[in-house]
Order: sequence, then structure tokens, then C-alpha cells
Amino acid sequence: MEYKLRKAEPRDVSDILRLVKELAKYEEMEDQVALTEKDLLEDGFGDTPFYHCVIAELQGDDPKVVGFAMYYFTYDPWVGKQLYLEEFYVMDTCRGLGIGSDILRHLSDLAMKTRCTGMMFVVAENNEPSMQFYKRRGAEDLSQEEGWRLFRFDKDSLVKMATPTEE
Ligand code: ACO
Repeated sequence: MEYKLRKAEPRDVSDILRLVKELAKYEEMEDQVALTEKDLLEDGFGDTPFYHCVIAELQGDDPKVVGFAMYYFTYDPWVGKQLYLEEFYVMDTCRGLGIGSDILRHLSDLAMKTRCTGMMFVVAENNEPSMQFYKRRGAEDLSQEEGWRLFRFDKDSLVKMATPTEE
């Protein structure tokens, strides 16, 4: 199977959303995907992109998007620039062909080019195959080794803390 990696374009938002939903289904959390194509278009391709994507596309008369990684840059006050890998998915019919490794190579090149000191990501605890995939490539499990816990303020909590808006 011949494929190429390329930067996502606005026309890719429907495929990105399709793959986001497939990954959520794989993680048994499909019902939590609230995002729309419009959100993805505005948030990724406006004046201030909030995310970036690299796309894996099968070549041929009718090219098909079969994998992607969504990422952005964050900053660690101890060590500086970091690449944050938000989503990483290859369709099951195309796994094991090296597409995922190629995407990680692409992201590693980007990290080197932009002088990032690491790439962070979160993995669902029951996703043992992908933890092993990352560990075989040298990833460390910080929740085990350093004891970090993942926290979030949801929107209700933010509204409670935010300056009240006048009715
Ligand atoms: N399915 C999966 N893995 C296979 C298969 C298969 N049918 N056949 C072989 N493998 C092995 C390969 O030999 C290879 O082993 P290695 O780690 O020793 O090299 C590895 O699994 C797959 O390597 P690649 O072909 O380079 O990667 P792939 O294109 O399969 O993509 C990925 C890897 C993205 C993890 C993919 O398996 C996937 O989408 N998994 C389900 C979704 C998932 O768990 N995503 C990560 C969530 S975490 C996050 O998003 C931050």
C-alpha cells in the first residue's frame, strides 16, 4: 500500500472528525465527541490555529485518509518547548505497515526542527497495546515513575470561578 504523509488542509476536517470518532469508539468513549467539522475548521485553520494535524493518505485514483496525528506546542517552565501529541490513530485495516512509526518520525523531525525537548501525551489506562507501542520506542510512563495526576476543571467549574456576566 502506497501512502504519503502531508499537512492537513481545511478540506480534511471531515476525515479528521471521522478518525477522531473512530479513535473515541476504539477507546469506548464515542458518545463524548461533541466537536463538529465547523469547530475543527475554525479552530485549526483560522488566524490562530489551536491544533495542527499530519495526515496519512493512501495514494491512488481515489486517495483515502487512513491515519492522522493531532498535535500542538506547549511550554514547560523547567525545560522549554514541548510537542503535545493529542491524538494518534491509524485505521485498523492499515495498521502494522509502518504508518504510525512514520508519523512519529515526522513528529520527531518537527520536534528537532523547533527545538522541543520532548513530546507529551496521555494514554487511556486500558489501552495496553498503544502503551507498549510507545514504550518500545522509548516513552516513559510518568504517572508511574513520577506520580503525576491528570486534572481538569470542566466548564461548570470555570463558570463558577469566572467573573459573573451581567444578565
Ligand atoms: N495492528 C496493530 N499493530 C500491528 C499489527 C496490526 N494489525 N500488525 C503488526 N503490528 C505491530 C507492528 O509490528 C508494530 O510493532 P513494533 O512496535 O514492534 O514496531 C506495531 O504493531 C505497529 O507499528 P506501525 O505499523 O508503525 O504503527 P501503526 O500504523 O499500526 O500505528 C497506532 C500505530 C497509531 C498506535 C495504531 O496501532 C492505532 O491506531 N491503534 C489504535 C488507536 C490508538 O491506540 N491510538 C493511540 C492512542 S494514544 C494517543 O492518541 C496519544
